[in-house]
Amino acid sequence: MSKKTYIIANWKMQLTNKEAADLANSLKHESIKTLKQNIELILCPSFAALSAVAEAIKKSEIKLGAQNVFYHEKGAYTGETSPSQLKELGVDYVIIGHSERRQYQKETNEEINQKIKVCLANDLTPILCVGETFEERQIGKTDLILIQQITKALQDVKLNNNQNLIIAYEPVWVIGSGQAVEPKEAQHASAVIRGLLPEFFSHEIIKNNISIIYGGSVDESNVMDFIKPGVIDGALVGGASLKAEKFLSLIRAVETE
Ligand code: 13P
Repeated sequence: MSKKTYIIANWKMQLTNKEAADLANSLKHESIKTLKQNIELILCPSFAALSAVAEAIKKSEIKLGAQNVFYHEKGAYTGETSPSQLKELGVDYVIIGHSERRQYQKETNEEINQKIKVCLANDLTPILCVGETFEERQIGKTDLILIQQITKALQDVKLNNNQNLIIAYEPVWVIGSGQAVEPKEAQHASAVIRGLLPEFFSHEIIKNNISIIYGGSVDESNVMDFIKPGVIDGALVGGASLKAEKFLSLIRAVETE
């Protein structure tokens, strides 16, 4: 069977809890008719809305994701959320190292590495975000940044046959801009990332358990320019996932094998 195509909605801090639950409800009703078998649809609301969204998507094929996790299991860490707490709420996926967290929370590659490990230890699939800023791109450092971010994030990370890892290439400078990169640039980034994976994982694990996806101004009109099985296996969607009709058009536009 071919790998799943991931469509992941990152709702950031854009919705109230009620808006998130209502949106999840609308998606659930429509996606029962729309969702193709090979698509894994994942909704990532903010922490406060996780319970309400979990309730809304109960008994559907839609999966729940969180936007962050803390890197310890338990303890005196005021304001943080543990992996097992996420698991208890029905979370299966966690976005890690999003550029907004790297920028505003000063999240480091070392913390990101620990978060990936703690996710895997708790049966949560990490969605690791990497990507260059505009300044880094301007001075020709895109590949170098990807190499640094991936190498540090995956240090001593082990995957077994039952664990998956999703790596999202998100060029920071196109996020929320309405202007995605050229698909060939995303394919190049995917090749750079893929080229690093044998340092960490076996051929079998890379083939079966790791997916590379693209994020950054994806919408219904361009999503299929990016998705290319085995190269880019899905999309991480911000703005275009915030309204049911728009997001459903995107989901409908995704063809699977
Ligand atoms: P936009 O789709 O709004 O560009 O956001 C992308 C993103 O940051 C998803 O994580």
